[in-house]
Amino acid sequence: MQLPRYIAHRGLSAHAPENTLAAIQAASDAGCKWIELDVQCLGDGTPVIWHDARVDRCSNGQGALIDMTRDDIRSLDVGSWFSVDFRGERMALLDEALSLVSALDMGLNLELKLNVGHDPVQLVDVAVHRARQVLPQDRLLVSSFDMTALEHARSQDDTLALGLLYEAIPRRWASDAERLRPTSVHADWTQLDQERLIEIQAAELAMLCYTVNDPERFASWWDHGVTGVFTDDPALFDARYQRQLRGDGRRKPR
Ligand code: G3P
Ligand code: MG
Repeated sequence: MQLPRYIAHRGLSAHAPENTLAAIQAASDAGCKWIELDVQCLGDGTPVIWHDARVDRCSNGQGALIDMTRDDIRSLDVGSWFSVDFRGERMALLDEALSLVSALDMGLNLELKLNVGHDPVQLVDVAVHRARQVLPQDRLLVSSFDMTALEHARSQDDTLALGLLYEAIPRRWASDAERLRPTSVHADWTQLDQERLIEIQAAELAMLCYTVNDPERFASWWDHGVTGVFTDDPALFDARYQRQLRGDGRRKPR
């Protein structure tokens, strides 16, 4: 699997409401080849693209996803909170998102989001199964903070590309890797540890960092074996590159 340097986090979430079809389309329009999306199940088992346990932050409604059905979420406006330009945007069903990612020929990091009370086995059975039907193997990377979900995913599919997702990379990452045979390790870049990066490089796994919106502060980590970053706006990195080409930067970008 060829993982890119920049993955648009929740779609192009700097310029469109996160985790929506509009954000997927915007990422493609901006030239991104890969995106990250969060998936979870509603109370009726429908898989949807959404980050939070509740709809309050990113819609005009209130309530927990686990108490909602497909009909409930279809009446929500999930665009206006971001900008009037996105008024009327609907919460994306997983199926709709997969169809669009496929049509746009993009790669997808599908993050299995297990908010409290959600069932990891159900989510894998519904969401990973569906994603595997729609996307080719080299354009689907499934990650999760929830090791039960990853274990179930691996037990169902020997060839699925998995990403171990952590905040700070724990000492036990190597035993997780031995069990789960991942393609990549994903971690919060503000909690990176050089020693762990050396171990991950030695294990020949890809290292992806989230959520990097400050290319200047992040720059030195490229030298420590980082493969790519999740960013809300990949253009920030282009802007840094352009500054360096003009000679404003201290050294040539890598
Ligand atoms: O998958 C990387 C990143 O998205 C994990 O954190 O909270 O943004 O889903 P979060
Ligand atoms: Mg995520």
